[in-house]
Order: sequence, then C-alpha cells, then structure tokens
Amino acid sequence: MTFRSLYRLGPLALAAYLCLGHADNGGCGGGEDEDGHHPGGAATGATCPSSNGPSAQNFGTAFMQTYCLSCHSKSVTGTARAGATVGVDFDTLDEVRRQRAMIDTHAAAGPNATNKEMPPASIPHQPTQEEREKLGQWLACGAP
Ligand code: HEC
Repeated sequence: MTFRSLYRLGPLALAAYLCLGHADNGGCGGGEDEDGHHPGGAATGATCPSSNGPSAQNFGTAFMQTYCLSCHSKSVTGTARAGATVGVDFDTLDEVRRQRAMIDTHAAAGPNATNKEMPPASIPHQPTQEEREKLGQWLACGAP
C-alpha cells in the first residue's frame, strides 16, 4: 500500500498506519511531549481497596525490583539504563510515592485504562494484567 492510496482512504487510515508503525513505542500517544517527558497513557482510575490493599512488603517492592529497577535505578548508569530517563528512579518508596501519577500512566491498570508503555515491549518479562491492576491499587493507596 502506498502513502498516496492511504491518503485517498482519508486521514483516519493514514493515522492508523502511522500508529501501527510505532506500536513498539506505545502506538499513538507514545511520543515525547515538549518537555522531553514521555506522556504515557491515561490515569487508570484505580482505587485503594478498603481492606487488604497491596503493600510494599507484600507486593510493591518486589514488583518494582522485578520489572523496573534494571533500568530505573540510580545504581544503573550510562548505556545500562537502556535509555531510561535519567533521574526517574524507583529505588526508594519516597521516589515511588513522588512519581506515583507517572508510574500509573505508564505501567498500571484500572477501570479507566491499561497502560503498558513500561516496561518497554522489548523486554520479554512483562507484568500480567493482574499485576498491573495491583500496581494501580498500590499506587492509589499511596504506596504504603
Ligand atoms: C529496559 C529498560 C526499562 C525498564 C525495565 C523500564 N523502563 Fe521505564 N523507561 C525506559 C525508557 C527507555 C524510557 C524513556 C522512554 C522514552 O522517552 O521514549 C522510560 C521512561 C519511563 C517513564 C517516563 C519518564 C519521563 O519523565 O519521561 C516512566 C514513568 C517509567 N519509565 C516507568 C517505568 C516503570 C514503572 C517500570 C516498571 C514497570 C519501567 N519504567 C521499566 C526504560 C525502561
């Protein structure tokens, strides 16, 4: 299919074509915004369960360790970060809490959105849907 024929199909077809071409980057909406920050997806709308919500001890610390810290840690520098934004690290609970909203829009799932931009699709080990939902809840609880 040529660009010219896509044009004839109209702007939607063209947009879909361009988005598919960047699917590894989260598809459309996955580009960088003007500050060079990656905007991520939508807020998940996850809420904190009234009892037995996830904690750092029974969920969060292991989740971040397993899926995020190989790139987003201050002990990982240079090319080993695989391009992970410098300064966006999740070594401590304080850092996670401060960056809660951004983690939600990049990696969590809830009633309003499932965000799979992180970890990058190039990483074979991906969280399950259930783990992403739990991440949303944990963040909504304030990452206790
Ligand atoms: C293989 C390395 C790698 C892993 C693992 C990884 N990331 Fe990333 N992360 C990146 C890269 C690369 C970018 C920059 C993306 C871009 O700008 O295109 C990024 C950007 C981000 C951003 C946006 C930062 C900004 O200000 O633009 C957030 C938030 C984020 N990652 C969260 C996470 C979370 C949460 C996890 C674990 C679930 C995770 N990442 C796992 C490589 C990684």
